[in-house]
Amino acid sequence: MTNQTSTGWGSRIGLILAMAGNAVGLGNFLRFPAQAIENGGGAFIIPYLVCFLLMGLPLLFVEWGMGRYGGRYGQHSTPFIFDVLGKASYWKYFGVFGIFTNIAVAAFYCYLESWALSWAYHSVAGTFNGMTQANLQAFFTNYIELGTAQPVVFWVICLVLNTVILSRGISGGVEKVAKIGMPLLLLFGVILAVTGITLEAEPGGAINDGLVGLNYLWSPDFSSIWSFKVWVAAAGQIFFTLSLGMGSIHCYASYLKEKEDIALNAMTAGWMNEFVEVVLGSAIIIPISVGFLGIDAISKMVSGGSGLGIGFAVLPQLFSSWGWFGTLSGLMWFGLLFFAGITSSMAMGTPLIGFMRDNFAWKDKQGAYLFGILIFIFGIPTVLSQDAFNEYDYWAGTVSLVVFAMVEIVLFAWVLGMDKAWDEITRGADIKVPLVFKYIIKYVSPVFLIIVFVGALPDIIKNATAETSLYGWLGRAMLLVLFVGIAVLVSVAKRKKLKS
Ligand code: ALA
Repeated sequence: MTNQTSTGWGSRIGLILAMAGNAVGLGNFLRFPAQAIENGGGAFIIPYLVCFLLMGLPLLFVEWGMGRYGGRYGQHSTPFIFDVLGKASYWKYFGVFGIFTNIAVAAFYCYLESWALSWAYHSVAGTFNGMTQANLQAFFTNYIELGTAQPVVFWVICLVLNTVILSRGISGGVEKVAKIGMPLLLLFGVILAVTGITLEAEPGGAINDGLVGLNYLWSPDFSSIWSFKVWVAAAGQIFFTLSLGMGSIHCYASYLKEKEDIALNAMTAGWMNEFVEVVLGSAIIIPISVGFLGIDAISKMVSGGSGLGIGFAVLPQLFSSWGWFGTLSGLMWFGLLFFAGITSSMAMGTPLIGFMRDNFAWKDKQGAYLFGILIFIFGIPTVLSQDAFNEYDYWAGTVSLVVFAMVEIVLFAWVLGMDKAWDEITRGADIKVPLVFKYIIKYVSPVFLIIVFVGALPDIIKNATAETSLYGWLGRAMLLVLFVGIAVLVSVAKRKKLKS
C-alpha cells in the first residue's frame, strides 16, 4: 500500500519556509492593503480574522492532512489523492481543479512576477532617477501595453527561472530557493516597514509622516462588517493569501512521512503568512505613498483593490528622492516582491510534476519543462490583454478556489469521515490541536464555504454571461481547454492503472 517516492523535504525548516513561501506572495504586499482600505479599513480585520480562524486554519489542516494521506499511497496531486480518499470514480475529476488552478494562476502570476524582476533591474540601473510622477506613470503604461519588447524578455526570464528551479526537484530546487528567498524577503520587509512607519514629514520632501497612512489604512468603518460584499472580500483574501483551494499545499504535504507533524507546521506557515500580510503588508505601500502624496491622491489608486499601481507606478518615484537609500529601497522592494512571487509560482508547478511522475513515470525535469511550456502558452493571452488577465484571475484565481475548497472539505470530513480525518490531522502532531477544530472542520467551515459560494453565485452567473472582448473570450476558451485537457489525462492515467 505505501509507495512513497524518494523525493522529499530535506529539513523541517526548509518545508516550513517553502510552505510559507507558497503562501506569502504578491497578495500580501499589494492586494491586502488595498483590499483593507476598500472594505472598511480597520474594521476589515474583523471579517478577515473570523475567516482566517473559521475557514483559513481549518482548511490548512485539511489540505496538509489530505496531502500527507495521499503521499502514503504514492500520490502527489489532487486527482488521485481524491481518488484514494473518496473511492467513487467521480472524485478524481474534482481533483482536476488542483492542477488546473495552479497552471492557470501561474500563467498570469508569473507575468506580474516578471514586472518585479524588471523594476528591480531598473531601480539598480537608475532608470527611475529624476522621473516625475507623470513620467513614471507613462513608463508603467507603456510597459503594460507592450510598448517595447522588454516585458516579454523579463517574462520569459521568469518562466525559465521557474522551470529550472522546478527541474531540480523538491529538496534540490524548491527548498533551496525558499531557504534563500524567504529570509531575504523578511529582512527587506522589516527594513521597508520600519522605514514606512518612521517616515518623517520634513526630510525627503514628505508632506505627512508615515503614521498618517497607517492611520488611514486602519481607521475602522464598523458599518462595513454588516456588508456581505466585505465578507466575500475577506474570504477571497484569505483564500488567495494562504494559497488555499489550489492543490499546491496538498502537493507539498504529500512529501511528508506518515508520522511527521502537520499540525504545528501548518500553524507556523499560516501564522507566518499572517504576520507578513497584516504587519509588514500594511506598513509599506500605504504609509510611504500617503506620506508623500496625501490621502486623496492614493485613495483613487486603491479602488479596484489591487495595489499594483501604487507598488509599481508610485513608489519608485518616491524612492528616487531618497538618494542612495532610495536605490537600495527600490532593490529591496522589488526584490521582496520578486521573492514573494517566485516562491509562490514555483509551488504552482509541483502538482503537475507530481502527477506526471506518479502516473506516467516522467522525470521531474520533464514535468518542469511541460509546466514551463504550458504557462508560456496559457500566459500569452494574459500578457496581451487585460481582459484575458481578468478572466483568469476571476475564474481560476477566485471561483475555482472556493469550489475546490467546498468539495475537499466535504470529501475529507464527511466522505472519509471526521474521526479518520481528525486522526490524520493529529497523528504525529507536535502540538495539541484544540478539539474545537474537529467541529469547526466538520460543520462550521463547510457551512461558511457554502454561504460564501451561494452568496457569490449571482456574481458568478453575471460574469459567466458578461460580454467581453475577443481576448476575454479567448481567455475563457483556453481555461476550458486546460481543464478538459487535464481531465482527459486523469482518465487516461486511471485506465492505465486499471490495466496494470
Ligand atoms: N498566496 C499567494 C499570494 O498571496 C498566491 O500572492
